[in-house]
Amino acid sequence: MKKKSFTFFLVFILLIALSGCGIDEVNGETKGYIGISMPTKSSERWVNDGENMKRLFEELGYKTDLQYAEDVIENQTAQIENMITKGVDVLVIAPIDDRSGMTSVLERANKAGIKVISYDRLIQHSEYVDYYATFDNFKVGVLQGTYIEEKLGLKEKDGPFNIEIFAGSPDDNNAYFFFDGAMSVLEPYIKSGKLVVRSNQTKFNQGATLRWDGALAQSRMDNLLSAYYSSERVDAVLSPYDGISIGVISSLKGIGYGSAEKPMPVITGQDAELASIKSIINKQQTQTVFKDTRELAKKAVEMADSLLNGKEAEVNDTETYHNGKKIVPAYLLNPVSVDITNYESVLVDSGYYTKEQLGQ
Ligand code: GAL
Repeated sequence: MKKKSFTFFLVFILLIALSGCGIDEVNGETKGYIGISMPTKSSERWVNDGENMKRLFEELGYKTDLQYAEDVIENQTAQIENMITKGVDVLVIAPIDDRSGMTSVLERANKAGIKVISYDRLIQHSEYVDYYATFDNFKVGVLQGTYIEEKLGLKEKDGPFNIEIFAGSPDDNNAYFFFDGAMSVLEPYIKSGKLVVRSNQTKFNQGATLRWDGALAQSRMDNLLSAYYSSERVDAVLSPYDGISIGVISSLKGIGYGSAEKPMPVITGQDAELASIKSIINKQQTQTVFKDTRELAKKAVEMADSLLNGKEAEVNDTETYHNGKKIVPAYLLNPVSVDITNYESVLVDSGYYTKEQLGQ
């Protein structure tokens, strides 16, 4: 082979080798393969979270594998096992059940040198969680509790007001933060008798809703209404999540709430799901907590990018999130309370929803 064509041949081989290693020969950045494991498609927030991350990772030149487990724990574990086998470099996981199943699969991931980011929900009982991208979960609860406090006028008025309390899924660490945050505001009023929980079900476990299932919440609300509210009115419902709020509202509607004579109680929520914003516009649900999934996705992508480039990711909390094995360094984003007065400025002006999506 002539010298010139031999050099050309060497350069050619080198380029093939570089692309095989995932080295971007144009800008010299190291790329990688990211496994994104989301809990379910049944809630639109997780669909947006997954798609936002996929897009952002791909824009940076990463390859992705995005999977949804439809709230079945075994599906999620199998999907993650499969991602490990396929050779991902980073796993971004929003666990369905943060307590079981993950420990051994993450041990396997660690042995394979794979980094792990816990997404929105904290993975418990594993030392192999590198970072946690989430919102200030306690504040989410405080926003819900404070909204009820303000709407009922608990500071000024004598009451008493009737309230019922719903909590999230007992296998999701976030649910306890939401509950504790909300109760930090509401409990003093319950103690003083200004807020009355007629069912007396004030403990997390009594109000818990496995898998955040709206149908379960609806049937619990049916039972509460028929047992405790045949002659009394419900003035407020603490709901930690829009899917639960929708279930509660169906139940209330079933016995005539939502009319001029019998207006809906104050009902909180979380996630600013499209159906709930429409419900707020239609004066059914009263409030929700907006957590900008675009920002959360961006954070998780930044964390993965830092890990793969041997850098430390930016965190703003190194104390709160102990998962039973370690304190996981976290970045907490800011949640925002949304109701009829500010949904346009918060959600439409920021481009999260278009007016058309809201049917306007
Ligand atoms: C929580 C999450 C909430 C809500 C809920 C149900 O973990 O923080 O925003 O989405 O799950 O999906």
